Amino acid sequence: MGRRFIVLLGPPGAGKGTQAARLAQAAGLAHLASGDLFREHLSRGTELGKVAQAYMTRGELVPDDVTTRMIAERLAQPDAATGAVFDGFPRTVAQAEGLDRLLAEHGERVQRAVVIDARREELVRRLTGRWLCRECQTPYHQTSRPPRVPGRCDGCGGELYQRPDDTVEVVERRLAVYEDQTQPLLAWYERAGVLARVDGERDVEAVQRALARAIAS
Ligand code: AP5
Ligand code: MG
Ligand code: ZN
Repeated sequence: MGRRFIVLLGPPGAGKGTQAARLAQAAGLAHLASGDLFREHLSRGTELGKVAQAYMTRGELVPDDVTTRMIAERLAQPDAATGAVFDGFPRTVAQAEGLDRLLAEHGERVQRAVVIDARREELVRRLTGRWLCRECQTPYHQTSRPPRVPGRCDGCGGELYQRPDDTVEVVERRLAVYEDQTQPLLAWYERAGVLARVDGERDVEAVQRALARAIAS
């Protein structure tokens, strides 16, 4: 009956976007990625997009109130009628509390929060070699997951681009911000009894299977 809500946690480059898209598709849930939403606002030139850009280019977090409000709006859309896989949200304890309040209004809650993790060197390798589809946001990697046609998305034919925050310098900052501000969320979800962990360093299909098991259990 009730909607299903799954949170994917993990450092930049762990594979949240890669896995959230597959999981949402398989489970019939909306894929709700805060970073993608900010980038969409930015490309449309909205006020929110301009506010977010200043933080994103430095690898800092966009303020909690702005972020949580954007998610609340997105959650009210019809494709979230069955629930959602959250990718990159919440990222602070304040955001997690905001999400809990939002869901509690309808007697709902997060059923599972899964951390996908990998070693630092691997995260940096993935992000600095990443290419994304401008149209559908599918991530590729120049060596581990190259598109069939260079520069084009396998799925939709869209143009591939590199994110401006995927430089070594900004990636270092994003990793530090993750450790400082997002790591504390793990203990928070652990106490709520919904935390699971998945090794993100195996290949995409193996991670996908482990994630499916973590959610079913
Ligand atoms: P966001 O867009 O969420 O970026 P992120 O958390 O830094 O994570 P990424 O998208 O970089 O990595 P991912 O885990 O999705 O990995 P992916 O699947 O692409 O946020 C960007 C910015 O927006 C933030 O810095 C902040 O400013 C702002 N923001 C967003 N949310 C916010 C919030 N809630 N609050 C405040 N501010 C917020 O994979 C990476 C690469 O690895 C790809 O090339 C992929 O092909 C490859 N890959 C994936 N899995 C594997 C595998 N198993 N093996 C080998 N390669 C793999
Ligand atoms: Mg992502
Ligand atoms: Zn595409």
